[in-house]
Amino acid sequence: MNVLLLGGGGREHALAWKLAQSPSLTALYAAPGNPGIAECAKLVTINADNHEAVALFCKVNDIALVVVGPEAPLVDGLADSMRAEGIAVFGPSQAAAQLEGSKGFTKDLCERAGIPTGAYVRTTALDEARAALTRFQPPYVLKADGLAAGKGVVIAEGIEQAEIALADMFGGQFGEAGAEVVIEEFLSGEEASFFALTDGETILPFGTAQDHKRVGEGDVGPNTGGMGAYSPAPVLTAELQQRAIDEIIRPTVETMRAEGMPYSGVLYAGLMLTADGPKLIEYNCRFGDPECQVLMMRFQGDLVKVMLACAKGELAGIEAQFAEDTALTVVMAAKGYPGSAEKGGVINLGEAEAEGAKVFHAGTAMKDGALVANGGRVLNVTAMGANVTEAQAAAYRAVDAVQFESGFCRRDIGWREIERENNR
Ligand code: AMP
Ligand code: GLY
Repeated sequence: MNVLLLGGGGREHALAWKLAQSPSLTALYAAPGNPGIAECAKLVTINADNHEAVALFCKVNDIALVVVGPEAPLVDGLADSMRAEGIAVFGPSQAAAQLEGSKGFTKDLCERAGIPTGAYVRTTALDEARAALTRFQPPYVLKADGLAAGKGVVIAEGIEQAEIALADMFGGQFGEAGAEVVIEEFLSGEEASFFALTDGETILPFGTAQDHKRVGEGDVGPNTGGMGAYSPAPVLTAELQQRAIDEIIRPTVETMRAEGMPYSGVLYAGLMLTADGPKLIEYNCRFGDPECQVLMMRFQGDLVKVMLACAKGELAGIEAQFAEDTALTVVMAAKGYPGSAEKGGVINLGEAEAEGAKVFHAGTAMKDGALVANGGRVLNVTAMGANVTEAQAAAYRAVDAVQFESGFCRRDIGWREIERENNR
């Protein structure tokens, strides 16, 4: 069976690597891909914005499944265009992708379905937003409604800072995404991610993870797309996972179906583990990056088969097996990230993969025969171990084997869980 994978980051390299191991795969194509993905797929130039071109490519190349990595094409309706042409696609429709594409949509859905989440107000007017602040306690959580490449959330310590942030949002800081704003109750607790595949009806739990969003060690400094992650996340105990399914995932899937927007694909729930139990912070309609990298290290089944079953509404009876060991990934970024990152720095992967570690390419390119940095997050150095402590040690041994002068990474990925392992 032939598969087309769309995307070109570390998440897609991990997906490509796993898809390429599937017994049911004949040929894997990827667009745009990257030099790492090129090792396991044939790179092709198709623009995901051009739905007709994607469909035509699929027809000509007998593609049985399209796997969409990032959220933007899904929010843009690519999955609908594929389905209209009779092409199976892993990823939700435009209507269902609103779960990521509109924070207000998700908050309203939570309210209708009784899903635990922070109290909120959504508004399209600055004066109304400012007035609404008085209904919340500091710190104030302010979110641009639409997609803002992970940058649309501001946590303001005081009212003045909140008012400035609101003025910026309505002033166009996040473009169209900020034309509507959600103000939300601040939730305290530890964050963890829960993943489930669903075909709109069957729910298949697909692992847990925790990531480190801040650029600095100890989780300080500006937000990033994620500087590292590990899976599983032991804080999400079996009991908490069951609560997440019963109280958050299932009501979401059922409500979406009942309202004529069945959700198909991966549902990635960002959870806050509060004193009252898990509460939804946000949904994403795609795998996390770099969470996907650690999930794929642990996933043991035939990914083509599972994704195709999901796409075709045949998930009932399908199982997902994951290694019990922990996978941990360290993001090597280019200096300057998350601000303007230095491009073109030469990378030598050396013996990084010698001990079973895997280096996924996130933002790399080939230039004059050399591998160079071509983005903020550049490499995802990923390793396995019996627990987080051991997986971390293995990942940093691999990191230390990489030569990347203009890069940097955090040295403490997994610290929270390692502290708990030390105290056990
Ligand atoms: P989001 O893009 O919605 O994931 O938000 C980015 C980050 O902001 C989250 O990972 C949390 O760390 C934080 N955050 C978002 N919403 C809340 C909330 N209601 N309470 C506390 N922290 C939040
Ligand atoms: N690592 C966070 C995300 O993919 O949204």
